[in-house]
Amino acid sequence: MNAPLLDIRDLSVSFDTYQGRARVLEKASLTVNQGEIMGLVGESGCGKSVLSRSVLRIIPTPPGSIDGGQILFEGRDLLRLPQGEMRRLRGERISMIFQEPMNSLNPVFTVGNQMREVVRAHRSASRAEATDACLEMLDAVRLPEPRSVLRAFPHELSGGMRQRVMIAMALICNPALLLADEPTTALDVTVQGQILAILAELAGRQGLSILFVTHDMGVVAQLCHRVAVMYAGQVVEIADVGSIFARPAHPYTQGLIASIPGRVSSGELYAIPGSVPSPIEPPPGCRFRPRCPHAKGGGCSDVAPEMVRVAPDHSVACHLFTSGGLP
Ligand SMILES: Nc1ncnc2c1ncn2[C@@H]1O[C@H](COP(=O)(O)OP(=O)(O)O)[C@@H](O)[C@H]1O
Ligand SMILES: [Mg+2]
Repeated sequence: MNAPLLDIRDLSVSFDTYQGRARVLEKASLTVNQGEIMGLVGESGCGKSVLSRSVLRIIPTPPGSIDGGQILFEGRDLLRLPQGEMRRLRGERISMIFQEPMNSLNPVFTVGNQMREVVRAHRSASRAEATDACLEMLDAVRLPEPRSVLRAFPHELSGGMRQRVMIAMALICNPALLLADEPTTALDVTVQGQILAILAELAGRQGLSILFVTHDMGVVAQLCHRVAVMYAGQVVEIADVGSIFARPAHPYTQGLIASIPGRVSSGELYAIPGSVPSPIEPPPGCRFRPRCPHAKGGGCSDVAPEMVRVAPDHSVACHLFTSGGLP
């Protein structure tokens, strides 16, 4: 098999806070293969945004610091790349879209001005050539009347249209990897569905790889090929999407799936009891132990579980699966 396009190995990131050092990512590892849509799922505060921003090296340092690990992209460690090369990669080989597109668009310029600038920052193109590239991309994200979209100011568009513009801007230089951080969370369900369909189509057509960050297991089921489940700064389970839903191994993953609306037959909404622990003093041993219905004393509270393989494309970090079961 080919090497993965993105290979994050044992990434640890912390932040200096008034309360102490917050260890926000602790040896997080995942891969994204060429042409694959990889989900990164977990409750709010688990470290998904910090992980995806680390790939572009847009974590503010200080207060943040990358304490260890590697981020291999096309074989090179991004954490060791000179600033100039990193800048070239951004937008050209790796792009990112965020939850609230209004924050990434400049309110005082038209969409056309901003989009053409992206094109011309990365290749030499006349104004007319840049405009053509923009129109083509706006058409690819199914925006009706692309010419009037180019003339519009961001506030004149709906949230769903703005997110399509952001996707078009992110993909116009034909990157290899798109980091998508909850890009549909602020949208209503119908618009969300349309955007997911566009992303899936573009990924298939352009051979694009996507790291898709979401707190929503339902979105994972709709869009992703594989998924990494993150809890309290650690990746606790990785599998192809079929296996995750058919045989979720980690009790946290099981809880996330049970929390999908409509999953529980009683009609009531299930929620995992408790909340994500503070990264300043995470519980020792397994970080999920305080909320875990299967936790035992001893091992679970003392020893951090290692990732173990339970099937060819399925790994989990839980003492239920370490050799001999619970210690
Ligand atoms: N600039 C920062 N300073 C201090 N703590 C931060 C900073 N950014 C993120 N964090 C902390 O890192 C943890 C993970 O945050 P984040 O990656 O945004 O979670 P998610 O995207 O999964 O909701 C949270 O506890 C958050 O408070
Ligand atoms: Mg986030």
